Amino acid sequence: MLTREDILTAAESVAASLARAQDVITFRDIVVKDRQVQLTVLGAREEWQAPFENTLRSVLQEAGIETLHVRFRSADATSTSANSTQPTEEPVRGHAAGMESDKMLNERSGVHFIAVASGKGGVGKSTVTVNLAVALARKGKRVGIIDADIYGFSVPDMMGIEERPQIVNERVIPIEKFGVKVMSMGFFVEDNAPIVWRGPMLGKMLRNFFAEIEWGDVDYMLLDLPPGTGDVALDVHQMIPQSKEIIVTTPHATAAFVAARAGAMAIKTEHEIIGVVENMSYYISKSGEIEHVFGRGGGARLAESLHAELMAQIPLGAPDNHISEPDFSPSVYKADTEAGRIYLEVADRVIAKCESEAK
Ligand SMILES: Nc1ncnc2c1ncn2[C@@H]1O[C@H](COP(=O)(O)OP(=O)(O)OP(=O)(O)O)[C@@H](O)[C@H]1O
Ligand SMILES: [Mg+2]
Repeated sequence: MLTREDILTAAESVAASLARAQDVITFRDIVVKDRQVQLTVLGAREEWQAPFENTLRSVLQEAGIETLHVRFRSADATSTSANSTQPTEEPVRGHAAGMESDKMLNERSGVHFIAVASGKGGVGKSTVTVNLAVALARKGKRVGIIDADIYGFSVPDMMGIEERPQIVNERVIPIEKFGVKVMSMGFFVEDNAPIVWRGPMLGKMLRNFFAEIEWGDVDYMLLDLPPGTGDVALDVHQMIPQSKEIIVTTPHATAAFVAARAGAMAIKTEHEIIGVVENMSYYISKSGEIEHVFGRGGGARLAESLHAELMAQIPLGAPDNHISEPDFSPSVYKADTEAGRIYLEVADRVIAKCESEAK
């Protein structure tokens, strides 16, 4: 099954073969569902729209995609960002919904933003986001999570959140669990219906997560990014330039290689990488032996190539939770488990890094 990142890579290489050096081509709204793909291309000259679409279609058909729907828009049709780091016309802060977004996004707000990224899907970004958030809360910090994976939201399920947010005075109250305030698209989608966004909706949705949500006072705001280096990642980069990043990988060499792309993007956009977390690093067998199921060394190599610290190696293993417990969650480790203790150490490091600088 192709991911949005795969589609983006294919579209970029087809565009690169057609576009002139001065063209600024951006892609938005990549949706992959079953064997159907849609995407919007901004800034494509008319003369290569048809060749672009035909070439991309045949490339994707080879990879098993049945239908491709491409929309072409002029380069200025975008309201926020796309896959270009060009500055955008519309101010991305302080929109009409009020000053709340400004307050939190303002660099002097004191909120530490940490985006959790990786190039590859399924390596555990959401798991790391959720557990680091809970660990920071266990350390007494006031913590929020924005599930910025607005197509593939998973944070509510992972934390075992079943209720929906209330709206008070036209503002949405985030759901609180394990001492962490959570906001996710998943709260607003009925029965897991697929989301098909119009271009500008995407950035707008993220901004609304700041503007229209009653966050209260927050020390740390973690953002669970979708896989890859696509639109949302760029929206986040542009909207929150002061955000720091944690890059997640597995020990596998390919995962580390792909994660390096997310790291490269952070570096390009001047986001400080606080560190690398290697997830699914090893398995402790019943007899107590350590098995390196997914290989070794990916995290260390990635950290070295990004000049960042390898902050943790987290073992394989689901939290031993029971659905009958009041604080059931499929993904949150208890504080007194091996993984739970490691996350507490990561939280200590994050606090040390963020708060020593702030003084
Ligand atoms: N250390 C671990 N041990 C066992 N299972 C894990 C571990 N970390 C994550 N998982 C499981 O692996 C799957 C993928 O994890 P997760 O959803 O956190 O990855 P992701 O990078 O956020 O994925 P996506 O790219 O789809 O957003 C989930 O089912 C999760 O429960
Ligand atoms: Mg995820």
